[in-house]
Amino acid sequence: MSTNQTQIQLIQPDDWHLHIRDGEVMKDVLIDTVRQFARAIIMPNLKPPVTTVDLANAYRTRIQLQLKSLGIDSFTPLMTLYLTNNTSADEVRKAKAAGITAFKLYPAGATTNSDAGVTDLKYCHDALEAMQAVGMPLLVHGEVTSPEIDIFDREAVFIYQVLDPLRKDFPELKVVFEHITTLQAAHYVRDAATGGKNLIAATITPQHLLMNRNAIFAGGIRPHNYCLPVLKREEHRLALLEVATSGNPRFFLGTDSAPHAKGAKETACGCAGCYSAFNALGLYAEAFESVGKLDKLEGFASFFGPDFYSLPRNTRKIILVKQAQIIPNELPLGDATIVPLRAGETIAWSLV
Ligand code: NCD
Ligand code: ZN
Repeated sequence: MSTNQTQIQLIQPDDWHLHIRDGEVMKDVLIDTVRQFARAIIMPNLKPPVTTVDLANAYRTRIQLQLKSLGIDSFTPLMTLYLTNNTSADEVRKAKAAGITAFKLYPAGATTNSDAGVTDLKYCHDALEAMQAVGMPLLVHGEVTSPEIDIFDREAVFIYQVLDPLRKDFPELKVVFEHITTLQAAHYVRDAATGGKNLIAATITPQHLLMNRNAIFAGGIRPHNYCLPVLKREEHRLALLEVATSGNPRFFLGTDSAPHAKGAKETACGCAGCYSAFNALGLYAEAFESVGKLDKLEGFASFFGPDFYSLPRNTRKIILVKQAQIIPNELPLGDATIVPLRAGETIAWSLV
């Protein structure tokens, strides 16, 4: 990779955590992702959730039809299944055979469309054992849901209440701690002992590298900066930036771009989710440049994800230029609109 003041060339990145929804709105959000990324892990939290191989195959077909109608043949959706209390070991083996990339654990009630999520991992023993046996990664929304736990502590508590016991019970299970937001999560993943094997990793979003929780309350309530896990204190942002830019292959790009129509965000009880897909790579470049680590962007964005998932790295190259881009105030989303992250503001880096 070559770096200078105004241009970065890198192998095309992938997005290892993405929501593209379904139906009418899918086209509008896919366009933004396929401009930048070669592949993406497609989250299964539809209504109803994607809980079976048949549902995932049907969803994949709808995505492929949409891509075809957009004239795009350069993008691969990587499908996931939504783990429930009732997921069987058979479904896990069937998923492996069908080329499903991973399972996603949503603790019940943790986030958008997670009502069908797992109420207690004890119900998932057989499914987890099968995942471990066939090498199927488990992607984890790492927050406890007990109402008595402070929302800013839910990720840190999840580590010792759920994640660490899970990894002790299934020591060979491949786990991705998704969209980490705390120093505790960053250090847990960095320091986890795996006997030299590729068993744990974490994705990090652009908003958690660029903003702390003050951004939700800057001059008034800012619903478009509200996502889950919620933004944390500055010390956590700094810890995430440190590991993301350290060259450690356990940390890689996952935008968690999560589109919600403007009206569903700007309301008395607004949905969680930031729409970062519009210029996600520009946002990551800004974060890496802020600590003088642009030379570490390519590993984070383009190498460590495929390496963890045992997929080939991409070969096509892309170029980011330091050319200020104003983010639109709104973008189309089906018959509504969406307010992208950093709407109306300037991002220094954009894709050629
Ligand atoms: C996501 C969504 O809207 O689907 N929201 C979010 O705030 N990140 C769900 C999720 O990943 O938690
Ligand atoms: Zn998500």
